[in-house]
Amino acid sequence: MVQVAVLGYGTVGSGVVEVIETNKADIDKKAGTHLNVKYILDLRDFPGDPYEEKVVHDFNIILNDPEISVICETMGGNEPAYTFSKNALLAGKSVCTSNKELVANHGPELLRIARENHCNYLFEASVGGGIPIIRPLNYSLTAEKIDSITGILNGTTNYILTKMDKEGAGFDEVLKEAQDKGYAEKNPEADVEGYDACRKIAILSSLMKGKNVDYKTIYTEGITKITKEDFIYAGKMNHSIKLLAMSRDTEAGFLAMVAPFMISKEHPLYSVSDVFNAVYVHGNMLGDSMYYGRGAGKLPTASAVVSDVVDCARHPGKTIMCFWDDEDITLTDIADVKHRFFVRVSALKKDEAIAAFPSASELNAGVDGEYAFVTDNMTEKEFDEKLAAIGGAINRIRMAD
Ligand code: HSE
Repeated sequence: MVQVAVLGYGTVGSGVVEVIETNKADIDKKAGTHLNVKYILDLRDFPGDPYEEKVVHDFNIILNDPEISVICETMGGNEPAYTFSKNALLAGKSVCTSNKELVANHGPELLRIARENHCNYLFEASVGGGIPIIRPLNYSLTAEKIDSITGILNGTTNYILTKMDKEGAGFDEVLKEAQDKGYAEKNPEADVEGYDACRKIAILSSLMKGKNVDYKTIYTEGITKITKEDFIYAGKMNHSIKLLAMSRDTEAGFLAMVAPFMISKEHPLYSVSDVFNAVYVHGNMLGDSMYYGRGAGKLPTASAVVSDVVDCARHPGKTIMCFWDDEDITLTDIADVKHRFFVRVSALKKDEAIAAFPSASELNAGVDGEYAFVTDNMTEKEFDEKLAAIGGAINRIRMAD
């Protein structure tokens, strides 16, 4: 039997208990042993809950119980999740987590401690919720040299952008509706400013390179400046606007960035709508592969955590290989990266814009008082300089390849 403790009885933690209970016959068969949730750690009590007897308030009860071999950390945030995870690993107890913030901040260190103590730090649920993506990168694609990863990694922003696209609604209006329905957080900053997607692409990029991509060095732009007019132009070009998190080898070096992009109908990520996530991976032998599904939510995320628990049960006393050293990778300066840009300026600046971007293609979508165009491929630096020379734009959005 594998005795499990769950840290945090919130949305994901209660989902972990539910998944283990609902699918116990299948899970035990696949694990080759019985999984039993012995403790649930939370500050609160849960009177009337079927598992109320398992609730404890002191982490040391779990840490000092030699029967506990696997801990599901579903608390979120850095502390006390970091201290609990580190102490559990030092005690030889495996940790399975959905906590992208902690994985992005301390992944290499916690992986090293797990190796030194013959246990595991597993984090399938930290990126893409229920979508298997960590395991494919770690196991299935080991024969590949992965040269690019492009993802829609945040469900909240994908829901907002999809609504703006389909209903012609404005950002504030859709955000409020998403909050009323419980799809968006009361404080939506981490989602709409791209910080959540940034942490997730930092994790995927680190696995891609086997070294550490510090999320703080990733250029990150959110979706708060996207307007319904931008979608009118996007529609005219048969494009949509998606918040993309990407990393790739470029002529200028290794790029990782998060920003809204115009993507064409032919792009594999175009049809990823609403709260769904997808990760599009290119390897030098396989070519393209794509992983799609529910990137958030109680049961999908919990299912990924439990899949890690099953992996721990299958490998008692062994550390599953994961290449993520703590050596930091220096990212290429975004200024040196080339894109085409979609640009909107006041109609009064049309002549100046044509002079500054002589080879750009005009785009007329019938929006009054504006002149819009798509530039050639150019570096961000060159683009910013030309744009500054004409006094800036109403908005500008990068075009995806
Ligand atoms: N806030 C996140 C999202 C939850 O909207 O995708 C899953 O990490």
